[in-house]
Amino acid sequence: MKFKKEILCIGAGYVGGPTMAMIAYKCPQYRVNVVDILPEKIAQWNSDALPIYEPGLDEIVQKARGRNLFFTADIEAGIKSADIIFVSVNTPTKTYGVGAGMAADLQYWEKTARQILDCADSSKIIVEKSTLPVKTAQAMERILNSGKYEVQFEVLSNPEFLAEGTAIADLENPDRVLIGSQQTESGLKARDELVAIYANWVAADRIVTSNIWSSELSKLVANAFLAQRISSINSISSLCEKTEADVSEVAKAVGMDTRIGSRFLNASVGFGGSCFKKDIMNLVYLCRHYGLEQEADYWEGVIRINEHQKERFVLNMLTAMFNTLAGKKICLFGFAFKADTGDTRETPALTVAGRLVEENAQVVISDPKALDNARLDTQSIKGDIQFKEDPYEAARGCHAIAIMTEWALYRSLDYEQIFNSMQKPAFIFDGRNITDHDKLFEIGFNVFPIGKPKKVHF
Ligand code: UDX
Ligand code: UDX
Repeated sequence: MKFKKEILCIGAGYVGGPTMAMIAYKCPQYRVNVVDILPEKIAQWNSDALPIYEPGLDEIVQKARGRNLFFTADIEAGIKSADIIFVSVNTPTKTYGVGAGMAADLQYWEKTARQILDCADSSKIIVEKSTLPVKTAQAMERILNSGKYEVQFEVLSNPEFLAEGTAIADLENPDRVLIGSQQTESGLKARDELVAIYANWVAADRIVTSNIWSSELSKLVANAFLAQRISSINSISSLCEKTEADVSEVAKAVGMDTRIGSRFLNASVGFGGSCFKKDIMNLVYLCRHYGLEQEADYWEGVIRINEHQKERFVLNMLTAMFNTLAGKKICLFGFAFKADTGDTRETPALTVAGRLVEENAQVVISDPKALDNARLDTQSIKGDIQFKEDPYEAARGCHAIAIMTEWALYRSLDYEQIFNSMQKPAFIFDGRNITDHDKLFEIGFNVFPIGKPKKVHF
């Protein structure tokens, strides 16, 4: 079959893989090639065991793969034949030099730009999918337009707003698709080509266009606002614990104001994931770069509260369990940074596990999807850590359970059976407020929710 256009995506990760699968699924008239520097990752995308877990992903990959969706390791050929190139390589926080711990590390990004420049012998549209600091497109254009061929590159910004665990639903029915372009004739023409792709399944009024810098900045700001809501409610959770107010009741009352809205107000042990911290640090770095110290301090506060919330959770455990955790066995229910994903990047569970080991506790980690990542992540922690997928086995003989991830599974366990197999007095620290606290208390647990009065038998 002759395809209308050829799309390439560089970077087959959490963003690139599902996004391209959706575009291919919805647009059979486009050929979609996905490449990655890791050949083993490409092999996994071509197998029955995809490299990431995401509800609904398997089905759409199966429908499109081999039809118009192809995963290959040949980056050079992919670049040559593409009309449109999405770049979704990772842009982690810099760990060295100027801006270490704050700025985005753009080395993979620049390497990719140079690779495109080296291989491309025809004009192309380059789409920034990765989250980037404002003005990255300018740097990219400068690199791309220094080449040996008489070709033109038009750079667009098209940030991805999908959340893990709901990626397929988010891609299929997005709140909005944002496309930023230069406001030149060629910029607007390139923008329209990208709009035409999304228009295959996204309503016209949900496809928003803007200037390129607004688009780059909007992604950072969207994540900063989301994270800020969590830090806001988490800061209130501390106050609730001191005043016997209940954070869920407060969130409900506050969230019913349509100006505020009810979503993203669940108090928790803290937010994780690859984006929130990185993107806020990035925003803070940008503010400081432009001399905006007050603004930088304001956003940095969102991260500070998040770190504090994780530490507060551990200190609550320590205090509740008679000021010593040494030699006590504590089971973590969940290790993924949120439910319905195996992803553990920046997961609060890793911080909590590390701190419990520092207190000489023994830690048992349970998770339905994230145990492989948990094993890798905890390698740097020197202490007694075990891994058990079955939550009943994991909790057996433990002094306490700490719920780290809001997996639905943990709502419906037989807690009576679990209680009977544990050391007494048995504790449960619900870092996600997902269990029935009254029922747990009746069973015999000492219950410590987030931002609600504790329920203890002594
Ligand atoms: C990444 C960024 O972290 C995020 O900021 C951005 O919004 C989207 O891209 P994610 O897809 O979650 O998010 O990252 P990851 O799962 O690590 O995928 C990146 C992929 O790019 C990896 O598979 C990596 O092997 C690949 N890569 C990296 C390349 O193909 N080439 C490179 O030079 C570097
Ligand atoms: C986020 C953004 O939602 C998404 O738009 C962007 O593209 C990438 O970053 P993600 O990190 O996948 O997505 O998950 P998200 O659902 O936003 O959750 C992030 C963290 O916040 C998780 O640890 C989650 O458990 C926590 N969270 C979320 C809370 O603690 N309380 C809430 O009310 C909501």
